[in-house]
Amino acid sequence: MEESILLELSKMVYDYCGLRYSDRLSVLKDRISKRVKELGLSFWEYCGYLRTTPAEWDLLVELLTINETYFYREENQLNECCLNVLPQIKNKPRNRPIRIWSAACSTGEEPYTLAMLIQETGQFLPGSVEIIATDIDKKVLKKAEKGWYHQGSFAFRRIPDNLMRKYFVENEGGYQVNSFTRNMVQFKHLNLLDSGKAGHIGQVDVIFCRNVLIYFDQQTTKKVIHNLHQNLVPGGYLFLGHAESITDMGMGFEKVDSEKTFYYRKELDLK
Ligand SMILES: C[S@@+](CC[C@H](N)C(=O)[O-])C[C@H]1O[C@@H](n2cnc3c(N)ncnc32)[C@H](O)[C@@H]1O
Repeated sequence: MEESILLELSKMVYDYCGLRYSDRLSVLKDRISKRVKELGLSFWEYCGYLRTTPAEWDLLVELLTINETYFYREENQLNECCLNVLPQIKNKPRNRPIRIWSAACSTGEEPYTLAMLIQETGQFLPGSVEIIATDIDKKVLKKAEKGWYHQGSFAFRRIPDNLMRKYFVENEGGYQVNSFTRNMVQFKHLNLLDSGKAGHIGQVDVIFCRNVLIYFDQQTTKKVIHNLHQNLVPGGYLFLGHAESITDMGMGFEKVDSEKTFYYRKELDLK
């Protein structure tokens, strides 16, 4: 009985945000038990509560997402973007800033690293690159906006000393990304499955969507990639995590191999 209710709940979660728990019902139970108890409900009643209380989804999402991230993660991709891709985009005529979207940004380490490396190139005037960073989890977005990370935090495990010294201010037992760098990034709440809301991001030149597709099945991955494709300008670039691939999915992207990494470019002519 309890298994069939948890299965129903896992289906609701899957439909809402693509996260798969149907084969990990005990994990789902562990993560939500405290909350369900707090509300004084049974799991069955909690399903009904979710249907009638949309705000509860924000809390549930906080309990179910994996938010692990750190500065300078998979740096070959970040460097490829800032040293090769952005300069190429910059050379094309445009009447707006270059726009980068960090989709599934968690606590902000990815978009802030991009903002730091863009400054490091010395090639971009202030305001000539906009970074939009989104996540489904409102709690991590709050932390991201503040840009403060405690001393010894996992966030700093890979960051080179020179970036640490240059772009952080020591503050209240931790380090805060300096205000100039923080101002280069705009955080927004977004469920990647929500094609309507993704449209509000507008056209972007580069997308980083790393280490989130690993939590989705192929059907959800295709839905998300389709949404990203819609937001990307023709010839725009998509960076996925190292363990994630859309090669052979026929999603309107071609693979680009560089010396140290690979990524995708949106095809100019769709068949
Ligand atoms: C492991 S973190 C990856 C962070 C960063 N991109 C990186 O590579 O370091 C995955 C993030 O995806 C977010 N996420 C999961 N499902 C999502 C969805 N349907 N829409 C938007 N974000 C989602 C989670 O909240 C989490 O912050």
